[in-house]
This record gives sequence, C-alpha cells and structure tokens, in this order.
Amino acid sequence: MEEFDTVDAEFDEETHVGYLTLNRPDALNALSDQLRRDIVEGLRWLESQNEDAEGIALRAVVVEGAEGNFCAGADITEFSEASPGESSERHHYQFVQEFPVPIIAKIRGYCLGGGLETAMACDFRFAHTDARLGLPEVDLGLIPGAGGVQYISRLANPSAAKEVAMTGDHLSAERAHELDIVNRVYDEDLDEATQGFAETLASKPPLAIQAIKDAANVSTQIGLDEGRSYDRRRFEPLLDTEDHQKGARAFAEDDYEPEFEGR
Ligand code: COA
Repeated sequence: MEEFDTVDAEFDEETHVGYLTLNRPDALNALSDQLRRDIVEGLRWLESQNEDAEGIALRAVVVEGAEGNFCAGADITEFSEASPGESSERHHYQFVQEFPVPIIAKIRGYCLGGGLETAMACDFRFAHTDARLGLPEVDLGLIPGAGGVQYISRLANPSAAKEVAMTGDHLSAERAHELDIVNRVYDEDLDEATQGFAETLASKPPLAIQAIKDAANVSTQIGLDEGRSYDRRRFEPLLDTEDHQKGARAFAEDDYEPEFEGR
C-alpha cells in the first residue's frame, strides 16, 4: 500500500490488479487540487510496478471512494479562486482516459459533477444500487467543466446528456444504467463482481487490451474508414507477440493454459 495525501494505492502482484481509493471522506471525496494531483500520482505509482517486472505487471485498475461515496464533484471551497485548478483539472481526466490499462470506477453513494466526469473518463462504471449520479453544476449557474455533457452524449446520446445536465437531478444507479452511463449495477455483490471483472481483464493479453482501449477511445474522434485503418495498424504488431503465440497454442491444444505477460 502506498499512501498519498488524499489517495491510497495498492497493487496485487498475484492478480495484476491495482486499487486506487479517493480518500477525503470528510468532504465526500470532493476533488481538491491535491486530490486531482494525487489521482495522477497514485496511477503513476501503480504503473511503476511494471519497472522490475517480466512483461507488464499492472493490467487493470479499480478506482473507488473512501467511506461509501465515490466523489461529490469539484471542491466548491476552491471554486472561487481565479482559475480553479484549470491545468491540473484537465490533466487528471486526460491521464485517466489515456492510462494504458483499463480502469473500472466502482461507484457507491454520491458521484456528482467532476466525480461523475472522473468516472466517465474511466473505461467502465460498476455502481451500487445506493449510488446517486448527476451533474448538478446547472444549479450553481455553471455547466460541467470537464466534459460531462460530451461524455454522456457519447456514452448515451445528446438528449440524455441534456436531461442529466439541465435538470441537475441525482439519478439512481438503475436510471444511469438505462441511460448507458453505468455499465452494471449490483447490490451486495458489487465488490466481488468488480474484482472478478478486473481480474478477468488482467488475465487477458495486456498488449491487446491496451490496443482495444486506444481503438475504442479514438473511435469517437474519427470516421469509420480511418478507424478501421487505425485498428489495422494496431493489429499487425500484435501478430509478432509471444502472447499471440500463446493464445494460438491454447486454441489448438486443449490442455495448454496460457499465462499472458504483455510481450
Ligand atoms: N466540495 C467541497 N465540500 C463538499 C462538497 C464539494 N463538492 N460536497 C460535499 N462537501 C462537504 C460538505 O461541505 C460537508 O462538509 P462539512 O461537514 O465540513 O460541513 C461534507 O462534505 C458533507 O456534505 P453534506 O452536504 O453535509 O452532506 P449531505 O449528505 O447533506 O449532502 C450532497 C450531500 C452531495 C448532496 C451535498 O454535499 C452537495 O450537494 N454537495 C455539492 C455537490 C455539487 O454541487 N458538486 C458539483 C460541484 S461543481
């Protein structure tokens, strides 16, 4: 376990899964500048687990909030400052989005504003039935400042984005699931299901997983033809990997269990 001021990070060597906990529970894990920086530092620390490893050690990350809430959004007490964390703000969302392994946001309690934007910058959102998700900025006379409307427009559709951002309502996990903002909803099984999903991703060939993440991310920015060319460029080098050889062998031989290493 590695503790930063407002984030705890943990790496499980055996399963190759990293865990990041936003840890400012007294402020419902609201995003202070420090917390934004610590999210990046925590992810960098997790990635540093690759340094002495054979192949790729870190293969999936689960992000959650301490003490029953994911994150109640931007820290409103830092809001009136001239330029509220502009550069670090953009940085943490982009860092999460471009991080080379899949990140699952495990959501309990409040997940609002920048908290929901952080969760939507992740690759997957698994929510507890007690989760309350929303973009309440409209009631502060603002709009979501880190792509909230853009994310929902892409995950669901522009009309859903308008519904969420114009009303500022706190949605139930079920409603967020109906709108495709949340991938899965669980009750008491949330921890087990999220961990199981992370471990499944971590057991797959890591270079292929990384290429899929990148391909899905660029798909929202380019047309289909260009996207297909992008996928082809990422496909070809994978043919030369040990992981591909292992996968092909496992397909041919019933009793061969491949251990993928990211090489
Ligand atoms: N920034 C800074 N502090 C926050 C915060 C935020 N976004 N959200 C909650 N907190 C703090 C509260 O000030 C309070 O601190 P205190 O105990 O020192 O007074 C503590 O977290 C608990 O919050 P509280 O409001 O007492 O809890 P609640 O259960 O009554 O209400 C919310 C929870 C999430 C509905 C309410 O806190 C809220 O609306 N927060 C702001 C959400 C928001 O607008 N986010 C987007 C910002 S752009």
